[in-house]
Amino acid sequence: MNEFVKVLYDEHDIIISAIEIAKKTDELIEKDPVKFEYILGQLIHFFRQYADRFHHFKEEEILFPEMKQKNEMIGLGIIHEMLDNHYEFRGLIKQIEHQVVLKKHKEAYALLYEYSEKLLDHIAVENDELFLMTEQLFDDAELERIQFRFEDCDRDLGYESKEELKNSLQLLIELF
Ligand SMILES: [Fe+2]
Ligand SMILES: [Fe+2]
Repeated sequence: MNEFVKVLYDEHDIIISAIEIAKKTDELIEKDPVKFEYILGQLIHFFRQYADRFHHFKEEEILFPEMKQKNEMIGLGIIHEMLDNHYEFRGLIKQIEHQVVLKKHKEAYALLYEYSEKLLDHIAVENDELFLMTEQLFDDAELERIQFRFEDCDRDLGYESKEELKNSLQLLIELF
């Protein structure tokens, strides 16, 4: 497997572990609403920063354009669908945040659940279809170029803050 595809798979695994935490938060709605609000705030931060700023950004700015350039049909089909999903995810996160501010916890959880399920489907399509295409699409020089662009991107955003975001999930798990 190419190194940059492995980076994306690994990021998906981290995002899935955040989704698992998100799905558990319903047990706190009645029991500990203050904790519920706190954890949702942390998850919103994680999804915005890690899932969107680090992960979706590399897909949107680097991988998808590189793939589109090699094959226009992929651009019109699966990549278009993936970009639509990213857009919808941003809207859902905004709505979840809004419901938390209004203290509508059940509504916030329902939206978080919807977000979680849609993100899991999205990750499955990328893992099982999209990422596998990269093996056939790119030659060695292209793969290496994409790899360097990925490294530049994560370095610019900050490896340290990426690690901190990942570790923040462990702290959340301990709150249950
Ligand atoms: Fe994606
Ligand atoms: Fe992804």
